[in-house]
Amino acid sequence: MQVDELLKPFPIKEFHPFPRALLGPGAHELIGPEALKLGFRKTLVMTSGLRGSDTVHKIVESMKYHGLDVVLYDKVESNPKDYNVMDAVTLYQEQGCDSFVSIGGGSSHDACKGARVSVAHDGRNVNDFEGFNKSENPKNPPHIAVSTTAGTGSETSWAYVITDTTTDPDNPHKYVAFDDYCVTTLAIDDPTLYYDCPMDYTAQCGFDVLAHASEPYVSRLNFEPSLGNALRAIRLTAQHLRTATWNPLDLGGREGMMYAQYIAAQAFNSGGLGIIHSISHAVSAFYDTHHGLNNAIALPRVWAFNMPVAYRRFAEIAAEMGVDTHGMTDVQAADAALAAAIRLLRDVGIPERFVDVKQDTYSKNRLGTGPTKFYENASVIKGDDADVDRITNHVLGDACTPGNAKECTFDTVRPVVAHSMTGDLDELLG
Ligand SMILES: [Fe+2]
Repeated sequence: MQVDELLKPFPIKEFHPFPRALLGPGAHELIGPEALKLGFRKTLVMTSGLRGSDTVHKIVESMKYHGLDVVLYDKVESNPKDYNVMDAVTLYQEQGCDSFVSIGGGSSHDACKGARVSVAHDGRNVNDFEGFNKSENPKNPPHIAVSTTAGTGSETSWAYVITDTTTDPDNPHKYVAFDDYCVTTLAIDDPTLYYDCPMDYTAQCGFDVLAHASEPYVSRLNFEPSLGNALRAIRLTAQHLRTATWNPLDLGGREGMMYAQYIAAQAFNSGGLGIIHSISHAVSAFYDTHHGLNNAIALPRVWAFNMPVAYRRFAEIAAEMGVDTHGMTDVQAADAALAAAIRLLRDVGIPERFVDVKQDTYSKNRLGTGPTKFYENASVIKGDDADVDRITNHVLGDACTPGNAKECTFDTVRPVVAHSMTGDLDELLG
């Protein structure tokens, strides 16, 4: 037996680092003093622009007030592309910057992490660092990540996700880089910056949290230090996502989801992910749809797929989601967890199948200031046999797939993908 085969059941676990963090209402106002403390002088701010809010302006002006020089790159696209990262690297080098700030959700944070790694390697293409710990130089520029969503957790994780547009243009490739050296220097999670997030994105980001929490809870890594955070994040999401979505100015809802984001990411950071994320990455690669939206659609199908190897764990998830599981068998409680997830998805107004996603409703770069160059001509989601095949193949090559609770093959995963495309969620309810 080969060593990699022996390692497949993950006998040796690894705990990956977290950055320091400031959490709570008003935390973003500390960015100037914190940046000075970290030695920032001239900072490249990376963001999508967050059109419709004054968040970027507020933070940039606050940094300038504290004497920092600021260069702005506000063209990060949703599902950040390799060219976003490399354009930012060029700007950083040309302007002689010494530090980074990212403002936004996962796209801005991830592009920024990729840019830091590239800068540390003299501007090498970010795509060279796909995979696990490919970074060779531990010294990259310091980075403060300011979150304006509650989903990604990228501000505290060792992962960043980039779309490689340099391969076959008909088959773009979205990959995860896990890198202990990409971890930010300081994370800022301020729920008051989350007030401006539109309702549909709030709902979708919430399902990214539920995926980040539930995937490590049932993962084959079975990493004890992750399990407590995973359950707590599931509980917080079940308690707060509806309020955060429908009452956007409710501080309790926004703050609850910000904490859920933070600890869910700390759960998957060492506890692993699964094929909710792999399906999500594949659909984004082909259609540039929102990561959280993709997770939400895939989640019930993947839970149903994984349940036979983890009924007990799903029963525990049910209890955290508010189900009274007393008197239920594990199988009954696991089914109730799935029903609770579908109820939550419906309550926050998320489409139930990929073919229901309307291109105009979920436009690619809605809050961004930059063009979505690569996907200008992307079609609505097809969901036909050829589409299901290419998505399934992308899933099997994803770095998140080995952690999935159940072993994945083309034949076992394809029906899960197909159901996500066109299947009826009611079929999953016993
Ligand atoms: Fe995610």
